[in-house]
Amino acid sequence: MGTTLEPRSKRVARFVRERFPIEKLDAQSMIVKKEVPLHKMSWAYYMGGLALFFLLVQIVTGLLLLFYYQPTVSDAHASVATISEHISGGAWIRNLHAWSASAMILTVIVHLFTTFAMKAFAAPRELTWVSGMSLALLVFAFGFTGYLLPWNQIAVNATKVGLQSVEAIGQYLPGELARWPIYVRETIQGEPSVGQATLSRFFAIHVIVLPLLTVGALGVHLLQVQIHGMSRGVDALKVKTEKFFPFFVIKDLSVWGVAFFVVAVVAMCLPFDAFLPYPLLEPYNPLGSTPDGIKPEWYFFFVYYPLELLPYWAVIAGSTVVGGALFLAPWIFARTTRRTLTVLAVAGALYFVVITLFGHAIYEALKGGTP
Ligand code: HEM
Repeated sequence: MGTTLEPRSKRVARFVRERFPIEKLDAQSMIVKKEVPLHKMSWAYYMGGLALFFLLVQIVTGLLLLFYYQPTVSDAHASVATISEHISGGAWIRNLHAWSASAMILTVIVHLFTTFAMKAFAAPRELTWVSGMSLALLVFAFGFTGYLLPWNQIAVNATKVGLQSVEAIGQYLPGELARWPIYVRETIQGEPSVGQATLSRFFAIHVIVLPLLTVGALGVHLLQVQIHGMSRGVDALKVKTEKFFPFFVIKDLSVWGVAFFVVAVVAMCLPFDAFLPYPLLEPYNPLGSTPDGIKPEWYFFFVYYPLELLPYWAVIAGSTVVGGALFLAPWIFARTTRRTLTVLAVAGALYFVVITLFGHAIYEALKGGTP
């Protein structure tokens, strides 16, 4: 009763005070006293740290690539070829950047599903969740903008399709709102067709805008995690715990070591783009026809194949509902049991795996030919 009568400004102030309690903002509370629960889902507590590790790899390798990469239509492709063929360690750094990007997105997706299933978003961790959702959008935006930078056939043509899909959302919006997707497309495209202005803007977004936003969102995310400690994760009322420092930190760092070994060896042995047929990797030719096999990166398949198979409005409506429900999960699922959340998470994960691995085959079976 008292809560409902409380003025909104006071409620907001109380919400913020409880999420950032001044008395807990010290190393004693955030590190020394912190405990990590031990139970059958404990492995999931390593997923956030692993995502953080791959993000750090992205920053270091991205900075090294910046020394040689040229963000111009005339030189981008050649500069990437120079990195791969003539710079010592260049091919390894480039492959590391590409493999680690995929590993980061995969880890973020697993982290999203596991924290959802463990109801780690419940009060007082709403801001951990919302900042996490913002990080998820940011890592996908990193993938989308980074894809264009080598300026090859697949990159430019896939970006054109992506930007057209953004603009097409306008047809389902009422009144003045219908123009917003067009403004978004014009703003990031920069000129009537994908060209130099687009490359300059994607480059600026990829290396300045997204990293700055990520630092902000990650700051809130990690601060919240350290202030509120790890969620209990399972329904059991009493769970065993271990000290965050040094035990969990040592195990976390060991996981980082294994991850680095794996990604470093993979990047040494397998060029990331070895899976694409050669014409797609040729420099983009604005006068040529669109080659076959244009596709986004695998982590966009979960929207790409539905877009190819279902009416556009259905995919937009479905994505809006699912995306909105995910962002607002701490409030929408406040009373939902962990068991139900686990069922939802498993269903979501199954959908993601099936459409990513078999989307192509499903398309062929239903429509014949390739998308
Ligand atoms: C670049 C992306 C991300 C990084 C680097 C990151 C990092 C972390 C780290 C280091 C932790 C503590 C260890 C753990 O519980 O795993 C954590 C916890 C958490 N993260 Fe993330 N995260 C990211 C994205 C996300 C996403 C996409 C979500 C979900 C929308 C999310 C939701 C959470 C929640 C709810 C917790 C608290 C877990 C608990 O208390 O049990 N994070 N994150």
